[in-house]
Amino acid sequence: MAEGAKVEGGQIVDHSDGREVVLRLRGIRTQFGDKVIHDHLDFDVFRGEIVGLVGGSGTGKSVLLRTIIGLNQAREGTIEMLGVDTSTLQGKARRQMLARTGVQFQDGALFSSLSVTENIIVPIREHAELEEQTMRDIAALKVALVGLPSDTGEKKPSELSGGMRKRASLARALALDPELLFLDEPTAGLD
Ligand SMILES: Nc1ncnc2c1ncn2[C@@H]1O[C@H](COP(=O)(O)OP(=O)(O)OP(=O)(O)O)[C@@H](O)[C@H]1O
Ligand SMILES: [Mg+2]
Repeated sequence: MAEGAKVEGGQIVDHSDGREVVLRLRGIRTQFGDKVIHDHLDFDVFRGEIVGLVGGSGTGKSVLLRTIIGLNQAREGTIEMLGVDTSTLQGKARRQMLARTGVQFQDGALFSSLSVTENIIVPIREHAELEEQTMRDIAALKVALVGLPSDTGEKKPSELSGGMRKRASLARALALDPELLFLDEPTAGLD
């Protein structure tokens, strides 16, 4: 953890200016075979901040996202999410942390055999015990929030345009009202 920062009640508080750190990367190294993607990467995000990562194609933006959410293993370094070292998270604790996190993947990654509503319900079903109708109501709200017509909920991803799929995957990322929201190329194809 950085100098001047300490954990207070499960939160990393950076005493250099008192802001809460919700994401802290230190010394991250990622590589595939001999190919190093990130080396000694340090990165902080504070609560309430909106941070955009910009870089050329193939420079490592998506790999960084996958590393932060645990789909790719960093060779070196530490990742703290919402005050917790993610390397210590397993089982239920890991699922609980993921429930506080929403992710929209670059390619949407919607389940092709499920409708948009069912896609949005997947994370809700996994993390909350709610009546079927309540989950459907939440899904309908998310569909409206991302600017999709209400009948989109019944459609399969293959019946949507690229931009609509992007919005549908955003709706799924927002399903649990996450504290941390990761969006990979959220605006591409939305013109
Ligand atoms: N699973 C993998 N195995 C091997 N190499 C990978 C893997 N995933 C990504 N890479 C490589 O890592 C590098 C960074 O890829 P990444 O997807 O992070 O780029 P990006 O910055 O998101 O690019 P874009 O803007 O095109 O989405 C690329 O050279 C890519 O080929
Ligand atoms: Mg990418």
